[in-house]
This record gives sequence, C-alpha cells and structure tokens, in this order.
Amino acid sequence: MNDASIHSEPRPTEHLEELLSAAQIADRIKQIARAIEAEYRGKKLTLVVVLKGATVFAIDLMREIGIPFVIEFVSASSYGASTTSSGTVRVHGLQRLDLRDRHVILIEDIVDSGLTIQAIITRLRRRGTASVALCALLHKIGAQRVPTEIAYKGFEIPDRFVVGCGLDYAERYRNLRGVYTLTFGPAD
Ligand code: PRP
Repeated sequence: MNDASIHSEPRPTEHLEELLSAAQIADRIKQIARAIEAEYRGKKLTLVVVLKGATVFAIDLMREIGIPFVIEFVSASSYGASTTSSGTVRVHGLQRLDLRDRHVILIEDIVDSGLTIQAIITRLRRRGTASVALCALLHKIGAQRVPTEIAYKGFEIPDRFVVGCGLDYAERYRNLRGVYTLTFGPAD
C-alpha cells in the first residue's frame, strides 16, 4: 500500500446499465437526418452545437445529413461535477456568430430541466435568425422546469442520471457508444 491509497477517501462504486444501445441510437440518427433533409433542403441551414456533451451526437448526425449546412458551436454550463442541475446557465460564443436570415437547428445531447436550451434559444432569437428549431438526442421526462419544444427528438428517457454518447459524469463516460444509467453503490 502506498501513501496515496492510505490517504485517499473510499470512492463509491459506480454501476452502469444500458438504456439505449449504439445500434438504436444510430438508427434513430438516420431517421432524424432524413427529416432534417426534407425540411431544410434549399434553405440556409446552420447547425449550432452546444458544447461539450452534444458534440458526439452532432458529429454522428452531421455525417448523415446529405444537404449543405454550416456548423457553429456555443457553450453552456450548468452541471459541473454534480448529478443535478445547479439552475445556473452560462452561455458563451453566440455573440460572434452571424446568424441573420439563417435557419438554425440547435443540437443538444439532452434536455433535462430545459433551462440550458431556454437560455440559448432566448438569446438566439434576438440575432435575426429566419427560424430556430431544437434537435436533442435525449429528453428526460418529468424533469422539465420550463416547457421545451423539441422538433427533432431522439428518445424520451426516464428521470435518471445517464452517461454515454457525449454525456458525462465528472467528465467521464462521454466516449461510450450507448447511453447508460449511472447509479452509485457503497464504497469498496
Ligand atoms: C448538460 C447537457 C445540456 C444540459 C441539459 O450540459 O449537455 O446542455 O446539461 O440540462 P438542462 O436541460 O437541465 O439545462 P452540462 O452543463 O453538463 O455541460 P457539458 O455538455 O459540457 O457536459
């Protein structure tokens, strides 16, 4: 036993259970891409990706969309290293974007309380966009604190803490291809 293990706190064990498989997610992304192509063909389309969690879903979705579009990124943060929303939303990166007359689809990994997306949409609509729609891989049912209209929705999920497909716990698990519930057991 070395000094580090003597002095470190016992860590609770983490348990992952698959909620959505990689195949389920890939199939749904194809369906969403077809719907976006049908709606936005011939229009000036900009996909605005909300960092960081939505990047994984966004990249998979972009590869499936067969019409021209511009990609932009904004960042929003509300969770930190906790599993519940702090309710505080900070948005960065919108001011530098030229979105006048653009049809914007916001890309999110998850709508939970809805506070993040509400904060971004409110700011976006002040920027002369032609339209704003929301595309979210996951919609956590029963967790909403504000009403949220999701034009392109991957899956509705129960009010559990989930990781994978871009979603993290303390920056871990974003790289999992499926979506998993994360629960904690007693320390080892
Ligand atoms: C997560 C997620 C959404 C937001 C949803 O982001 O990516 O942006 O929370 O929660 P809400 O509907 O309750 O506002 P997070 O703040 O964890 O940042 P990250 O994407 O950089 O991990």
